[in-house]
Amino acid sequence: MLLVDSGNAANRGDVLGVMYESMALMGYDALGVGIMEAGLAEDAAKAAQEKGLPLVGTVGPKVGEAAPGRISKQLGDLTVGVVSAGWTAEPEQPEYRGAVQGLLEAARAESDCVVLLSQLGPEADTKLLSSEGLVGLADIVVSASDALRPLTPAIVGPTVLLPGVRKGRELGVLEVALEGDTVRCHGEVITLAKDLPEDPRIAALVDDYYAQRQEQGGGERPAAIETAEGPELPDLFTADEQKLIRARGYLTADECGRCHQEQLDQWRTTQHSHALGTLIAAARVVPECLVCHSEANRRGLPYDAEGADQYGVDCAACHGAGLFHASMEGARDTIVRRPAEALCRRCHTAERDTGWALDLRLPKVVH
Ligand code: HEC
Ligand code: HEC
Ligand code: HEC
Ligand code: HEC
Repeated sequence: MLLVDSGNAANRGDVLGVMYESMALMGYDALGVGIMEAGLAEDAAKAAQEKGLPLVGTVGPKVGEAAPGRISKQLGDLTVGVVSAGWTAEPEQPEYRGAVQGLLEAARAESDCVVLLSQLGPEADTKLLSSEGLVGLADIVVSASDALRPLTPAIVGPTVLLPGVRKGRELGVLEVALEGDTVRCHGEVITLAKDLPEDPRIAALVDDYYAQRQEQGGGERPAAIETAEGPELPDLFTADEQKLIRARGYLTADECGRCHQEQLDQWRTTQHSHALGTLIAAARVVPECLVCHSEANRRGLPYDAEGADQYGVDCAACHGAGLFHASMEGARDTIVRRPAEALCRRCHTAERDTGWALDLRLPKVVH
């Protein structure tokens, strides 16, 4: 078994220490550096070394030097190489592409299997791995973005693209079997139920962390929902709203609308904003239908979870969760600007939408 994570462990030094120690206890084999800890690059590398966690230096802004660019791991007879691609708004940029390609080639030369931990998101991953010189360099890509979370792995040429899952709430599992010359894969996302037992060693670490914080005047240990990971949000969200948003993991349409009223108004005129209502009207509020008709359900929450969307195909389905985007007051490179046709077709399948043509459908959607 190879246990990996693409990064985004924490955005504060002290929390990062607790996270890395917990992940080391869980036996992680490799960990990338995400946009959250990018500013902590040196600290992250140091903390990882202290805790014995194999951090993979990310190709991308600020982090390149902090840790080795690739690592190698022996799994029985197999040598597995792990490379990490960090967030950038312009993955096509030759310098970035070249750096990723160089690391992948080096890993390829010395490994039976190459795993790429990516912060780019499935759309950019697909583009990158279909581009000249990069085809086939990675066998498996572990994607970190959730712009539209596919439930099953995608296949891009000879590469398997694994969906990103929500940290601490889900586990993505890919089983790979070799039958003669044929490789067979089976992927699934397991939701971690709240009633799973705690690991006592990790529970003790977290207790210690809060005890120390309280000693230093950091206040009471917050209730479970307040500890939900996620960035600080701007003041236009009340403290209670912020807690809900972090626990939920994405912004609902109304929440995006606080800063994008025009787009919200336009979107409300589309059927996307009534997709849940459609199922209610048809008395078919069941998982097999919710998977495309409810954003909350798609993200592994009950469709009527507290504060979840009441609409259906929310902004987040096309643009991504938006937590970092909102926390950075709308920073442009933290959101999907223009969702690609492939994303529409995850729901507008040949079966569900027999008359699909992008130029017919898109004008109704753009705002
Ligand atoms: C998460 C799933 C999902 C995604 C992604 C998605 N759609 Fe849809 N779309 C739906 C569903 C479900 C409906 C039907 C809603 C209903 O009537 O209940 C729909 C309806 C529509 C309609 C009819 C709207 C109307 O007001 O008549 C158009 C047009 C459309 N989608 C275009 C797009 C385009 C273009 C994209 C990509 C940019 C896209 N959709 C992405 C699920 C999705
Ligand atoms: C793979 C994604 C997907 C699944 C699963 C799905 N739908 Fe849809 N549904 C769509 C899309 C996309 C549209 C819009 C198609 C179009 O505009 O032509 C749609 C449209 C509809 C409409 C038409 C709305 C209207 O007023 O014209 C109904 C009703 C509907 N879906 C009900 C269901 C039910 C019931 C289920 C479960 C049995 C279901 N859907 C499962 C994607 C899906
Ligand atoms: C079905 C997919 C889809 C959904 C749902 C969706 N958008 Fe978009 N959005 C798009 C597309 C496609 C564009 C790019 C339009 C273009 O540039 O031609 C876009 C562009 C934008 C832009 C850039 C400025 C602009 O208006 O072109 C903003 C801001 C935006 N969307 C906000 C939102 C918000 C807020 C919501 C929810 C209320 C939302 N979007 C829901 C597909 C979607
Ligand atoms: C705190 C306010 C705020 C919230 C909340 C917010 N945005 Fe934005 N967003 C902005 C600002 C400001 C910009 C313009 C940035 C610029 O032009 O530099 C922007 C830009 C965008 C763009 C265009 C990006 C580009 O490259 O041009 C999209 C798309 C977008 N937002 C979608 C969303 C969606 C979807 C949500 C909810 C998931 C959301 N925003 C939530 C403030 C916000």
